[in-house]
Amino acid sequence: MHFTVIEHALLKADLSVIRDEKTPNGLFRNRIARISEILAVEILKNAELKHFSVQTPLEKTVGFGLRNSYVLVPVLRAGLGLVDGFLKFLPDAGVSHIGVSRDETTHEPNFYYSNIPEKIQESICIILDPMLATGGSATLAADLLKAKGAKRLMLVSVVAAPEGVRKLNEHHPDIAIYTAALDRALNVNKFILPGLGDAGDRIFGT
Ligand code: PRP
Repeated sequence: MHFTVIEHALLKADLSVIRDEKTPNGLFRNRIARISEILAVEILKNAELKHFSVQTPLEKTVGFGLRNSYVLVPVLRAGLGLVDGFLKFLPDAGVSHIGVSRDETTHEPNFYYSNIPEKIQESICIILDPMLATGGSATLAADLLKAKGAKRLMLVSVVAAPEGVRKLNEHHPDIAIYTAALDRALNVNKFILPGLGDAGDRIFGT
């Protein structure tokens, strides 16, 4: 299984802020954005590079650039909170939105929107969703992307439940899963424990 909990002191501190029920929406959004920057840097640490020649004012030396193209795939709505942090380091990435809303009683994901460009076939797709709870939404997003020809995918979450990691890995064992925290479990309403509540509502103040 490709599953990684990103360890970073700054992530732990920011996570504690967004877990706190007293954190207001503005601060929540700000810290989610900062978390996504740290995740982007850590996840891209070993990204494949291409080499080229750079002429410094003194002599030629070797230069590096990212070898692959990337498409960010935020799962609406909460995934939007992670986009800017990744775009900061992948400014040329495409952004492809997938709308999935979890039914409040059945907890099943309902698909409502997608805009997936052809170029996902040659790109690395980074699915962005702060919450990996049952894993239904992430699995549906991955199904859609693969149906459109995506071959290289990863999923980035902020808090994940063991159930969600298991489900996504069962359906898509090729997808590398990254999270800032692996939480304990889901409650009867399929909310992550201890979690941070509903990320979409807290980002958008709804
Ligand atoms: C939440 C969350 C994930 C999904 C996780 O979204 O942002 O997308 O649920 O749950 P799952 O792993 O059990 O599928 P929600 O449906 O509440 O929509 P929102 O982002 O618009 O708030």
